[in-house]
Amino acid sequence: MSIILAIESSCDDTSASIIKNGAVLSNIVCGQNVHKSYGGVVPELASRQHLSNIVPTVETALKEANIEYSDLEAVAFTRGPGLLGSLIVGLCYAKGLALSQNIPLIEVDHMRAHVLAHFAEDPKPAFPFMCLTVSGGHTQIIKVKDIFDFELLGQTIDDAAGEAFDKTGKILGLDYPAGPIIDALAKQGNPRFDFTTPKVDGYNFSFSGLKTAIMYFIKSELKRDQRFVENNINDICASVQKKIVDILLQTFERAARDHNITHLAIAGGVSANSELRARLHTLAIDNNWQSYIPRFEYCTDNAAMVGIAGYYKFLQKDFSTQDVSPSPRISWN
Ligand code: KG4
Ligand code: ZN
Repeated sequence: MSIILAIESSCDDTSASIIKNGAVLSNIVCGQNVHKSYGGVVPELASRQHLSNIVPTVETALKEANIEYSDLEAVAFTRGPGLLGSLIVGLCYAKGLALSQNIPLIEVDHMRAHVLAHFAEDPKPAFPFMCLTVSGGHTQIIKVKDIFDFELLGQTIDDAAGEAFDKTGKILGLDYPAGPIIDALAKQGNPRFDFTTPKVDGYNFSFSGLKTAIMYFIKSELKRDQRFVENNINDICASVQKKIVDILLQTFERAARDHNITHLAIAGGVSANSELRARLHTLAIDNNWQSYIPRFEYCTDNAAMVGIAGYYKFLQKDFSTQDVSPSPRISWN
């Protein structure tokens, strides 16, 4: 028997989840609207919001799961990577709870948690599988050989895929985070504008050139037509989204073929993107491969994925001590 409370506070979402024997009983995410008008997350504002949100978020997660503080057998938290101030709030809460309830503390790596979100549901991926983890801060291709055995095959050398969406959104005057907005607008658009595909070694990615190309393209079109963005917003979004998904899937497919892996998963906030989901599904069907596409609530930041990662560490009795510190740039490779 194991009942774990998990806390996620690495960026701008405060989340708490209860995991019982590896099953998700509750997964509460409290977002922060305060960053919208800044075009990105303001770290100081994020940590202050975590401070005011963490207790009610945990209490809602406990209530929804019908669990008392005294029932908890461990507390898992995100140690990193993420924003230092935000991580500190989750870590301090977790430490305090572990002390007061006399239960073990489990540190979790946020990027591993995104991948292990796939183990929150059935069917669970079979090993080895390849995971494309795409979020606001990371873009990684990982060969997952076992729950604890990850091999990083490639990653972005500059911007993350989510940043490519968000920075394009800023150029187009859309709110932050722009990923879901671009996704929605692209549904009514035609991807008739083309941008060059960056050339990158190995299984790595680059998105900063795309952002610059979009910026120059918009600037030059605006010279001809001041209303270019308003008049063509759906087609611009469809074109940008298609290019980002092309870049991601071309490299992902090549990595899978080179490694003879036929089980493909996506994870992280950008895995909520409808075009990425649909095209991965088609790629898998066409090749007789298996694809794993997480439910929306397990794509963007959430504590259930931290709890699932924590559950596997709990089974191994892999606990942290009270002197554990946050690791904004933690890396498991
Ligand atoms: O994993 P996540 O919630 O936080 C990080 O760990 O970064 O990912 C957030 C990112 C943002 O860049 C957001 O724009 C992007 O995920 N995102 C999307 C979609 N939903 C969220 N990008 C494209 N299409 C979406 N539907
Ligand atoms: Zn994330």
